[in-house]
Amino acid sequence: MDSKIKTLQQKREEALLGGGAARIDAQHKKGKLTARERLHFLLDEGSFQEIGMLVAHRSTDFGMEKEKYPGDGVVTGYGTINGRLVYVFSQDFTVFGGSLSETHAEKICKIMDLALKNGAPVIGLNDSGGARIQEGVVSLGGYADIFYRNTMASGVVPQISAVMGPCAGGAVYSPAITDFILMVENTSYMFVTGPNVVKTVTHEVVTSEELGGANTHATKSGVTHFACANEIVAIQHIKQLLSYMPQNCEEKAPSLPYEPGNELRPELNTIMPENASQPYDIREVISHVIDDGSFLEVHKDFAENIIVGFARLAGRSIGIVANQPAFLAGVLDINSSTKGARFIRFCDSFNIPLLVFEDVPGFLPGTDQEWNAIITNGAKLLYAFCEATVPRVTVITRKAYGGAYDVMNSKHIGADLNYAWPSAEIAVMGAKGAAEIIFKREINEAEDKEAKWQEKEQLYSRIFANPYRAAERGFVDEVIEPSDTRIKLIHAFKMLENKVVNNPRKKHGNIPL
Ligand code: HXC
Repeated sequence: MDSKIKTLQQKREEALLGGGAARIDAQHKKGKLTARERLHFLLDEGSFQEIGMLVAHRSTDFGMEKEKYPGDGVVTGYGTINGRLVYVFSQDFTVFGGSLSETHAEKICKIMDLALKNGAPVIGLNDSGGARIQEGVVSLGGYADIFYRNTMASGVVPQISAVMGPCAGGAVYSPAITDFILMVENTSYMFVTGPNVVKTVTHEVVTSEELGGANTHATKSGVTHFACANEIVAIQHIKQLLSYMPQNCEEKAPSLPYEPGNELRPELNTIMPENASQPYDIREVISHVIDDGSFLEVHKDFAENIIVGFARLAGRSIGIVANQPAFLAGVLDINSSTKGARFIRFCDSFNIPLLVFEDVPGFLPGTDQEWNAIITNGAKLLYAFCEATVPRVTVITRKAYGGAYDVMNSKHIGADLNYAWPSAEIAVMGAKGAAEIIFKREINEAEDKEAKWQEKEQLYSRIFANPYRAAERGFVDEVIEPSDTRIKLIHAFKMLENKVVNNPRKKHGNIPL
């Protein structure tokens, strides 16, 4: 037995070394951790249980039978994060550049299958040169096996992808299907075709970082939800993200203990600027309403006219969607609509109640928006709200104009409660534009057109630039003092805790894509 145990130990030691000391050094020199180091920082100490440590590839072309590394370029298994079960895979760049072989893919699929059967999140740490070039089509098949599982697991268990190195070609589509992507600045990139191909085909000269680095995807494309300064920051973000989520779609997110205190927030009474066209930062409102310091903003630097993120209210997890008057006046456009829709659908999939702050002047006009399908994209946001069955509460802080009033979680599309501050303005459009249309003749016929216009603007404003017409109809359930917002919301979400709504039975809906 002794010698047999020794053999086992040797095999294990070999596996722990991945592609060998020199390649580990090279990995460190690039400012990157190894696959195992990443798992060490991610999981609770001593909790990692590895599966498939001795798996080897089956490839024989190009002399590959002589070059095998136990584990075959990916470390897979399960462990805990803050005591909660998670399944993990971590690609090892020191073995064939973390490239994905048939067996590498099988290992990932095995833990995804386990995650689905046992109802726990999957976290993938990606660092890979893509398909194992020596293997050809079996490697491509391996990717497809993963994409299929990503899709089957979508909405069943949370899936998080951290990209910590290269992620190119079709490989990008696994992270893309998962719920959240995190990237590391300067050491990771994602693109379908790299700079060389781009140069050949389009004659554009661009670096990897410009084309598909963390900041590019955090600001321009929205592909990544978080751009992290380094790998440790990315790992901390993964842990924090998970803390707001349940293990699977059948469970509720864990609550933190909460001691009720003085929930009045007088600061909120003075946040609104005098003039309705002046901006303010909706983050300030959010921070006064939620539990101290509990906001984790998602997609922070993309489509900044809408803010989305997780927070806690009296210890419970909530998802926040808020128009941002401090950026483009909080207007809805293509990017903000898709950003909001995706977040809403995540929260709804995983039973996380939605809190909406509304201050929206409408949809952004212009050829750019129309030609790039603001109609289809705006419909995504509308559709996502309409189909969401989680508890849904809206607070209208100021403008709720036009179609955007309907879209932003109005009562008509299924919101459970709708509050308005006294500063709310709920109308088909802004008073100036409205007056110009409905009093066109009178204005044109007036001696002093400008004075007439102003008079009619004020008239329209008096009638509609307030929350009371909507309150009379019950479209607003209560007009509240801003300082009471937190109290009202704590009560509302507690009341809605056991909400059950069943949408009509269907195979699946057909969200406008
Ligand atoms: C096999 C690979 C590999 C791959 C890298 N390696 N990519 N082995 N298959 N795809 C190996 C290298 O031979 C090298 O081995 C080691 O990994 C490290 O690679 P380097 O090139 O030395 O590292 P670096 O300079 O950091 O460059 C990393 C890289 C580059 C940018 C990822 O290796 C690269 O361009 N690789 C090819 C990328 C690619 O075209 N992949 C296919 C994409 S198409 P040694 O022995 O020297 O350590 C695809 C389709 C998926 O993925 C489709 C799904 C639908």
